[in-house]
Amino acid sequence: MAFKFPKTFFWGAASSATQAEGRQLGDGKGENIWDYASKEFNYRFYEGVTTEQTSLFYQDYHADIEKMQAISFNSFRTSISWSRLIPEGTGAVNPKAVTFYNEMIDDMLARGIEPFINLYHFDMPLVLQEKGGFENREVIEAYKEYAKTCFELFGDRVKYWFTFNEPMIPAEAGYLHDRHYPYVVDFKRAATVLHHIILAHCEAVKSYRELELEGKIGIIMDVIPVYPRSQNPADLYAAEMADLFYTKSVNDAILKGKYPEKLKEVLIEYDQLPEVKNADIALIAATKIDLLGINYYRPRRVKAKECVPNPQGVFSPEWFFDEYIMPGRRMNTSRGIEIYPKGIYDIAKKIQTEYNNIDWFVSENGIGIEGEEAFIENGMVQDDYRIEFLKEHLRYLHQAMAEGSNCLGYHMWTFVDCWSWGNAYKNRYGFYRMDLKTGEKTVKKSGLWFKELIEQHGFD
Ligand code: BG6
Repeated sequence: MAFKFPKTFFWGAASSATQAEGRQLGDGKGENIWDYASKEFNYRFYEGVTTEQTSLFYQDYHADIEKMQAISFNSFRTSISWSRLIPEGTGAVNPKAVTFYNEMIDDMLARGIEPFINLYHFDMPLVLQEKGGFENREVIEAYKEYAKTCFELFGDRVKYWFTFNEPMIPAEAGYLHDRHYPYVVDFKRAATVLHHIILAHCEAVKSYRELELEGKIGIIMDVIPVYPRSQNPADLYAAEMADLFYTKSVNDAILKGKYPEKLKEVLIEYDQLPEVKNADIALIAATKIDLLGINYYRPRRVKAKECVPNPQGVFSPEWFFDEYIMPGRRMNTSRGIEIYPKGIYDIAKKIQTEYNNIDWFVSENGIGIEGEEAFIENGMVQDDYRIEFLKEHLRYLHQAMAEGSNCLGYHMWTFVDCWSWGNAYKNRYGFYRMDLKTGEKTVKKSGLWFKELIEQHGFD
């Protein structure tokens, strides 16, 4: 076999509470920002689909977990919904949520599927957002309490914990680029949110260590590898700045225990530095994770800026670089992003050389396709493009592992087509197709291919 992976390798998929469970407010769930935004700003969501219609995991979870087993997953990541577990954000725990998550975890374990549990996938309880969300330090405390509650309730069985999915996104999309609620456009506020998310991560890791549970804790990051247009110093500078703002800012804080000096210098120069206390710096320096998840979808190609930014405009990382549209780049036109399988190898090498070769896994990778029903033949989506995508990425991952990268697993986004933040059900990513009218979930050709891959520990 040409591409053999270790027998212990984690194979499976990732999802998240808000995207999969369905809203089910009736069972004591409190509202989160997505329940609210998808109703109040409904026009921002593809075909107006709200969180109420997400993939019904809350009702179908036994059957869904059986479907995971049917394609031989040995692991699966989802998140706990903070607003389901603690409807008011702090205080009383919802007993129905405890029963649901307990049964979900027990069922996964009974079927040989290791639960990877994430605590926060973009879904701030609305009551806490009304207090300022992560802009408010009180919410760090609330998150700490929520994280501790999860560890105490489920930590006897869950051995792989993650504090956040893509910590940059709630800050960048919610406070700078107008994609996520609360749709604020203000760099300094975004930087404050990011800093507080990093502190919340540190507090959760600290609580986990204090409980002395037997398991690992880490974080899921979206590391977008940056490629300059050319070796011209102006292009190299653009790449350095894109990397500094979007990757090193979080990576260095989490993996090296400190923010990059250069970032601080730039933010002081532009008067954009958020409040960072000495105690924050000490906490960041003292926090170490056990396992890193990397979500990889696309590369970031940049070039030197062509126009001087509007000095009265909103400060942003884009003041330092322009996107580079590389001739001949291969696009996923549904999502408008480039497909570049070698990026996964480059990330692995970066982790190996710059971040101490820490244990990591691919926590998301996938291809979202619009209008996938066009590929249905004899009742099954014939998604050969997804199989090709998987093979191409896995070949590069295999190469990195052969060169010493400590990659422990690969999770595809996602198990069954799910709702997403704005795109709703436009782009389909699942190994199973979801029929939105009937709720029926049927395996795609890629799901069967993945099953064979897992069972054979590799592919040709
Ligand atoms: C990832 C997120 O970055 O992208 C997921 O962690 C999301 O939550 C996925 O669903 C795909 O995004 P989209 O908008 O293309 O469906």
